[in-house]
Amino acid sequence: MTTAVCPGSFDPLTLGHVDVIRRARSMFDEVVVGVARNSTKSSLLPVEQRVALARDAFSGVDGVRVEAVDGLLADFVRTVGAVAVVKGLRGGADFDAELPMALMNRHLSGVETVFVVGDQALAHIASSLVKDVARYGGPIDDLVPGAVADAVRTALRGRDAG
Ligand code: PNS
Repeated sequence: MTTAVCPGSFDPLTLGHVDVIRRARSMFDEVVVGVARNSTKSSLLPVEQRVALARDAFSGVDGVRVEAVDGLLADFVRTVGAVAVVKGLRGGADFDAELPMALMNRHLSGVETVFVVGDQALAHIASSLVKDVARYGGPIDDLVPGAVADAVRTALRGRDAG
C-alpha cells in the first residue's frame, strides 16, 4: 500500500487542488491531504475550517483523507508513512517556487516530491486570486467547491465588518 501527501495551505481549496489530489489518488493507494497551519502566512480561513471544507469536498472519495499539518511537512510525511509528496504544477513559476521546498523536504526526511501537471482548463485558478476576485464581489462559484465559495464570502464579510 503506497501513501502520498498532498500538502498546501488550501486557503481556500480550489478546483485546481481537487484536480491534482484526484490525479495523485490515481497513482497512489491513499492520499493524505495535509492542510498546513502555516504560521508564515496570515490565512483568511482558520485551519480547522480549511480541514472541514476539504473533508466535505472529498467525502465519499475512497482513499483520500484530510489532516492538519502542525509542524514540518517532512515530519508529517514520516508520521503518516507516505512515500511521496505530490504537488501540482500550473507553469514554470510554480516549479521555481516548489523546487527549493522539494529539495529541503528531501534533505530533512529523504522523501521524494512528485510533480503532477494539472488540467490546463484550471491553470488560471490560484487561492490568492480567488480571494481577490471575491473581495471585489466577483463570481468564484466555478473556481472552488460550492461550500468553499460560501465560506470565503462569509469570511470576507466578517473581515470587512471587523
Ligand atoms: O499551498 P502553499 O501555501 O503553496 O503550500 C505551502 C506548504 C504548506 C506546502 C509549505 O508551506 C509547507 O510545507 N509548510 C509546512 C511547514 C514546513 O514544512 N515548512 C518547510 C517547507 S520546505
